[in-house]
Amino acid sequence: MDNIPNHVAIILDGNGRWATKRGLKRSMGHKAGFENLVKLSKYIYKKGVKILSVFAFSTENFKRDKEEVDYLMDLLVKKFKELIDNVPEVKIVFSGRKDGLRDDVVNTIKEIEDITKNNDKGLLNICFNYGGKSDIVDATKNIVNDVLEGKININDINENNYINYLYNSIPDIDLLIRTSGEERISNFMLFQSAYAEMYFPSVLFPDFKNKDFDEALTVYSNRNRRFGGNNKK
Ligand code: FPP
Repeated sequence: MDNIPNHVAIILDGNGRWATKRGLKRSMGHKAGFENLVKLSKYIYKKGVKILSVFAFSTENFKRDKEEVDYLMDLLVKKFKELIDNVPEVKIVFSGRKDGLRDDVVNTIKEIEDITKNNDKGLLNICFNYGGKSDIVDATKNIVNDVLEGKININDINENNYINYLYNSIPDIDLLIRTSGEERISNFMLFQSAYAEMYFPSVLFPDFKNKDFDEALTVYSNRNRRFGGNNKK
């Protein structure tokens, strides 16, 4: 297929409902979601996508029961090797605030980023303790610092280079998928979503398989992206 999106972002939604429907604890839905992400990400890079961003834990997710939060943190610490082994040539970065995270989680994040830092066959951006508004607020603070220190001139900041101040300088999203039928951005990558094509399949994330991603690609390739202009495809 031609017209493969450069940057795909997925809001991994529906793990809890997937588990509840089966009479399982919500955590089991996150386990199934993690295992699905491991397999699906390999397929996504195979299709030619260069950047994959996933919303794995939002700043607001700390409002959930401690047991569920702990389980998600443990998933990262205990199972990250599966993720790396599955996409061995992909660079993995984490976007989000480190304060508020357990020490072992912060250390695992550093370890993953360090192991994969020289990889160049794709980028996996894991949004963890992430909020789109905090991303913009933190970028703004860094800009103000650089201006006050004389490193940049305020008039040199524009829509293109602002991205350099966002977590990991992640560029614009081409295709944004949210599983489970919810149709909201929920504070995910607000700046980079400006011209993203949105796709909201009803399938719950643990059931979102390679064929569902193919369907998303087909839908994307039939969209007419105008970026505010009126140019036809
Ligand atoms: C939303 O589903 C999902 C999450 C809050 C967590 C997503 C995390 C994973 C799939 C695991 C990936 C983890 C790492 C460490 C990379 P929900 O719980 O809100 O589901 P619901 O809307 O059905 O309740």
